[in-house]
Order: sequence, then C-alpha cells, then structure tokens
Amino acid sequence: TFPKHVRIVEVGPRDGLQNEAARIDTATRIDLVERLIAAGLESIEVGSFVSPKWVPQMADSAEVLAAVVGRPGVSFPVLVPNDKGLAAALAAGAREVAVFAAASEAFSQKNLNCSIDESLARFAPVMATARDRGVRVRGYVSCVLGCPYQGEVPVADVVRVARRLIDMGCYEVSLGDTVGVGTASAAARMVAAVAAEIPIERIALHFHDTYGQALANTLACLDLGVAVIDASVGGLGGCPYAAGASGNLATEDLVYMLNGLGIDTGVDLDRLIGAAQFISAALGRPVASRVGRALGDR
Ligand code: HMG
Ligand code: MG
Repeated sequence: TFPKHVRIVEVGPRDGLQNEAARIDTATRIDLVERLIAAGLESIEVGSFVSPKWVPQMADSAEVLAAVVGRPGVSFPVLVPNDKGLAAALAAGAREVAVFAAASEAFSQKNLNCSIDESLARFAPVMATARDRGVRVRGYVSCVLGCPYQGEVPVADVVRVARRLIDMGCYEVSLGDTVGVGTASAAARMVAAVAAEIPIERIALHFHDTYGQALANTLACLDLGVAVIDASVGGLGGCPYAAGASGNLATEDLVYMLNGLGIDTGVDLDRLIGAAQFISAALGRPVASRVGRALGDR
C-alpha cells in the first residue's frame, strides 16, 4: 500500500549542479534554493563540503547554506565526507549533514579515495561531533543496484552498509542507484532486503534516470511503504565519479505522479516547474524533464 504523504528530498542544488560543466554563480544557486523553498519543498540539499579539487562546483556551499539556513520548516542538509567537511559545515550553520558511503569497493575508491570500511571509520568522529552539536545526520549508500566500475553489487553488501550507517546513528539512509541501471523488480527486491533489517520509515530512495527507470523504480518501492524520495529539479544531476550517470529522477515528474496517486507532498507543481525553467535557462538549455516540457509553456 502506498504512503499518504511522501517527503521529497530535493537534491538539485547539490547532486544536480555538482556535475555541470557550466559553473553556476553563487547568487544563482541561492536564487534556485529560494525558488525551491517557495515551491514548498521541506528538505533541500544545498551543497557539499568536500575537497574543492575534487568537486569545484560545490566550493561555494558555505555561502549558499548560510543564505538560507534557519528558514522555518525546511531542512538544508549538506554532504560531508570527513571531519574537515563537518567543521566547515558547522561553521556555515548546518543543522543537518549527510555522510556518504558506497556498497561497491571500486566506487568507494573513486569517490572517496578509500575503502568502504575506511569511509565508515572516518564517519565515526563525524557522527560523534554531530550528536554533540544536535545536528542530524543522513546516510547515503551509493551503487545499490550496480556499479560503473565493478558491475553487479550483491544485495548483501547494500544491506551491510545501510545497517552500519543506521547503527552509527544516521536517522535515515538513502539508497542510491548512482548510475540508474536498476529496474523495478531488482529495486523492490533490494529495498525488501534492506527493510528486513531497518525500519521502512528510515529508508529513502535516490534514483538516477540514466536508463529512464527512475519513476518505475520509485513506484515499485512506494508500494513497499517507502515514503522518502530524493529527486532533482529539472532532472539535473549526475556524479563526477560515475561515468554516464545522468540526472536524478526529476522532481516535477515525481510530483506529477504522486499527485495522480493522491499522495501528498506539499509541493506546488507550477512553482516547481518555474524553478526548473530558471535553472535550466541559467545552464543554457531547455528543461530536461518530461513534465517540465509538457507543462512548461502554460
Ligand atoms: P583525499 O585526497 O584522499 O583527501 O580525498 P586527503 O585527506 O588526503 O586531503 C587532500 C586535500 O583535500 C587536502 O588539501 C585536504 O585539506 C583537502 P591540500 O593539503 O591538498 O590542499 N580536504 C578537504 N577540503 C575541503 N573539504 C573537505 C576536505 N577533506 C580533505 N571535506 C576526499 C578525500 C573525501 C576529501 C575526496 O575524495 C572528496 O572530496 N571526495 C568527494 C567526492 C564527491 O563529492 N562526490 C560526489 C558526492 S557523492 C554522490 O554524488 C552520490 C550520491 O548522490 C548518492 C548516489 O547517487 O549514489 C550521494
Ligand atoms: Mg546521486
């Protein structure tokens, strides 16, 4: 049975923009976040505190976060890979951060320059400091349905890493199909295996739409009771360490489907499409999402 309400975690300002060749200036990124707030999103991932040598697009995340943090009723998580990232995020006022691990060893090396276990060990002090400061921590697991380097990823590896993140104190774990290779039955099987170990309320899903499967995968997993879905306005996105990864599931495609299913999100579709048009224009291209294109000219 479907949930009555779905919390959408909007990741466009982070996952969406981290992989764009065109640099979006800080004021434009802040303007995008303001439009997403106005559209009614309750959780907006605004940036990451990672090495600017690795992901230069996110180098101004402190300014973006500081411009919006504290806005009532909205959380603004930011990615942190280690202590250094957490310290910078806290200095910018972060009230929520996200750590990110992978279910694939090869991807962990490419994305974090360390093994899965080393990454988890680095998160331990991050979790401790965050707990002391009353900051919530979300956890990501990448490559849950396949890896661009390793190929197949055993479900047992996804379960193990998700479990570790929850045991370490993450309030929620977001399962990422980083390259978008998964299909509906594989997604549902993977989620069912994780849900056997972790309460379904603590599972979020993060699909990339590279193969056009994101919406179908989402629907299959909503039916299992998952009620938190990551998505990216305008279908922006990708991952600099996952060749071929295209955008995330587009937020407006997701909202359109959920509206049709009678599932509440609190998001105003017209305003959301306006935000998609705004950022797509700033990137110099048409809106990539189907719903954005279909409804964009009204
Ligand atoms: P490293 O080179 O092994 O790190 O990288 P290091 O500790 O040896 O430090 C190297 C340099 O980076 C040093 O500076 C550090 O100070 C600096 P230098 O002395 O050379 O001038 N440094 C930092 N600077 C700023 N912020 C920091 C930080 N840490 C170290 N936090 C590291 C390790 C983790 C830093 C690097 O691998 C990195 O930044 N990786 C981030 C990669 C990334 O952001 N990937 C995209 C996000 S994940 C994703 O998209 C997937 C997701 O969407 C889910 C899905 O789709 O599956 C979440
Ligand atoms: Mg992603």
